[in-house]
Amino acid sequence: MQGHEHHHAHAGQPVLQHAPSAHAEIDHQLALAAAEPDQGGRVIEVELEAREVEWSIGDGRHFSAWAYNGQVPGPTLEGRVGDVLQVTLTNRLPEPTTIHWHGLRLPAAMDGTDMVQRTVAPGESFTYWFRLIDAGTFWYHSHTNETVQLERGLYGALVVRGDDEPRFDGEQLLVLDDLKLDRQGRLARFGGFVQWHDGREGDVRLINGRVEPELTIAAGQIERWRIVNASSARYVRFALGGAPFHVLGSDVGLLEQPREAREMLIAPGERVELAVGPFSEGQELPIESLAYWRTTIKRRKTERFGSLEVGAERPSRATVPAKLRAIAPLARPNATPNRTVTFAVKYGLNRGMDFVVNGDRHHHDAPVRVGELQVWDIVNDTLMDHPFHLHGFSFQVLSVNGEPRGWTSWEDVVNLPPKSRTRIAWIADDRPGSWMYHCHILEHHAAGMMGHFDVVR
Ligand code: C2O
Ligand code: CU
Repeated sequence: MQGHEHHHAHAGQPVLQHAPSAHAEIDHQLALAAAEPDQGGRVIEVELEAREVEWSIGDGRHFSAWAYNGQVPGPTLEGRVGDVLQVTLTNRLPEPTTIHWHGLRLPAAMDGTDMVQRTVAPGESFTYWFRLIDAGTFWYHSHTNETVQLERGLYGALVVRGDDEPRFDGEQLLVLDDLKLDRQGRLARFGGFVQWHDGREGDVRLINGRVEPELTIAAGQIERWRIVNASSARYVRFALGGAPFHVLGSDVGLLEQPREAREMLIAPGERVELAVGPFSEGQELPIESLAYWRTTIKRRKTERFGSLEVGAERPSRATVPAKLRAIAPLARPNATPNRTVTFAVKYGLNRGMDFVVNGDRHHHDAPVRVGELQVWDIVNDTLMDHPFHLHGFSFQVLSVNGEPRGWTSWEDVVNLPPKSRTRIAWIADDRPGSWMYHCHILEHHAAGMMGHFDVVR
């Protein structure tokens, strides 16, 4: 580790807020403690340098952006369950930054928020170190000045593979984003009431950092697609021109069984995994986001993110299995909630509009005890959709407006429809420290729609 002091701390000492740099030893101990001693995975060492870069989006346009290792999205990190990921972030930006490991169950000190670590100043480095516990499609992104740093390109995907996963003919990763460019074709400056209210959406739609690219698939084959919605505020109602596909997985790994669908809502921060194909040679399908009105000022029509060209036939060895895995439900759909978290808006004098949780900007919520079942009602008291994101832990959605969900899955983001009540269940495993939840529309998060709480033993 560079630019980072080592101090000795005693095991069992609580993780202190705002002083994590003095706890490098403890960070490591916690990271290792999160794993079984005999798991014996590899240590994957990665260097990520956050720096300015010229970003070419593939249609001749390019502009100054911020990226990990000079590419948007940043490098796709891959590991297997049980591996240790050790990522050294070096900050070559003109302002502080951090990395949040979205969806991962890691020690609090590795969560990458300014609540659990000192932000990494320009010229400094910080090493994140944790074991990969769950298989699934995750992502990493800046958690400092997010509305600016994510828009400029500081995000990437992280794929964790498990044993006994179903086999497909191929796999593609689609990281979706949109950009707002100004008249000169540069990233637009943030501003204005519409952007505060709706969150920033742009008219340039990207897959893997390229504007409306053409993807290909061989005729007759079935691929596994991992999709990440990395945009600041855009809801993607994903469709392939109406062609059916199978939903295989959600935020954190596979569902119990595939569900057939022709469209899939992917809120900001969410991931889905799909089985796509087989198609016949010569077909061309739009990769699009269908019209979705989340009660914003600006309405989105059906828009294209890219296209899928079906090439020459190739043999297939893939079938979509009827069963993917078993997930034990944490609670019955009508379990009694022990906490209510209310997302609301407040009209204030200076800002015009505040986004609040239980009436406060940056709500300080009650502690959660390790091992105790949490049944939370997440109430959306506003007329807009909000994607609720819980850091560091996965939850199950029990019901929405009293209606059981109908399937069990592991999530770290759930969309809250307007004027709704979503009941979730989760259990804090033994990772005490400071954690947060927030709206993943970055502008709402920045405007105060977040809560923080401690997990305690
Ligand atoms: Cu991707 Cu605090 O979130
Ligand atoms: Cu929101």
